[in-house]
Amino acid sequence: MALHRLTSITMGVPNVAETATYYTDFGLTPDGDGWFTTQDAGRQLHIVHAPTRRLIEVRVGVDDPDDLAAAASRLERIGVPGESNGPSLTAYDKATGVRAVLEIAPRLVQPTVPATPYNGPGRRDRVGTRAPGVLRSTPVRPRKLGHAVVGTTDFDATTAFFRDGLGFKASDYIKDNGAFLRCSTDHHNVLVLKAPVTFLHHTSWQVDDIDDVGRGATAMLEGHPERHIWGMGRHHAGSNFFWYLKDPAGNFSEYYSDMDCVVDDQLWTPEVLEGAKGLFSWGPPPPPSFLHPEDLAALMTGTHSAER
Ligand SMILES: [Fe+2]
Repeated sequence: MALHRLTSITMGVPNVAETATYYTDFGLTPDGDGWFTTQDAGRQLHIVHAPTRRLIEVRVGVDDPDDLAAAASRLERIGVPGESNGPSLTAYDKATGVRAVLEIAPRLVQPTVPATPYNGPGRRDRVGTRAPGVLRSTPVRPRKLGHAVVGTTDFDATTAFFRDGLGFKASDYIKDNGAFLRCSTDHHNVLVLKAPVTFLHHTSWQVDDIDDVGRGATAMLEGHPERHIWGMGRHHAGSNFFWYLKDPAGNFSEYYSDMDCVVDDQLWTPEVLEGAKGLFSWGPPPPPSFLHPEDLAALMTGTHSAER
């Protein structure tokens, strides 16, 4: 009886073909009409043409018509019109132009991937064999879409849209700058970031474990060192391991594993994170281009260099 998952996102880019090739390399499977599937959750990424790179649509699964009705009245309370259309409800965030569609969808049940044996001090869980992570040779393929991060010029309005209107829950905040919001049991499915211009900062994709974060990124960097942005590291907000790469349109894409789960809302206390904690727990320091992507100035003046 609630929002239960991030179903899919649509990203707009000026260079569709090049970007589609990148996400195929990244491990998503092309499924026709600009759609890409993940291993566990079907069609989750739609790439379409847009003059500049941006997040166009976020689709969220709900259980039943009551959830749609509840969202419609929440949106009305904050003065955002919602358009009901049978099994879905559509509304736009005024600040970013992002279209949100709540839709009745089955809950995602992922197959259980067992933890790999891991040796530690005084604990030999794996004896007489190399670690599974060094023996894997199959290409990394993301299990599901984890989250999308949207830069907004009106942080309060966009946060209110997702949280107070659509019904996302707040997991943590970055002081004055960011809101980690969830529509599932994952720590965050949308991160709203204060920014000088509306843009898609990154999308994030779940892989099995830290080895697959490393293996996936290493494969992406072979012959393409320019794709590297930031990693390997571990976030404080969400606790996930991360490695960020850059697609040919300028959007970042993240491989992640081991994110915090919030199953009982009463048992999670949101924090307001300050300083480095808002960014990471450990890892190399983030490059300036992570916080301020190189094309931001061009996006602000509408002269994006990737436009063609
Ligand atoms: Fe992320």
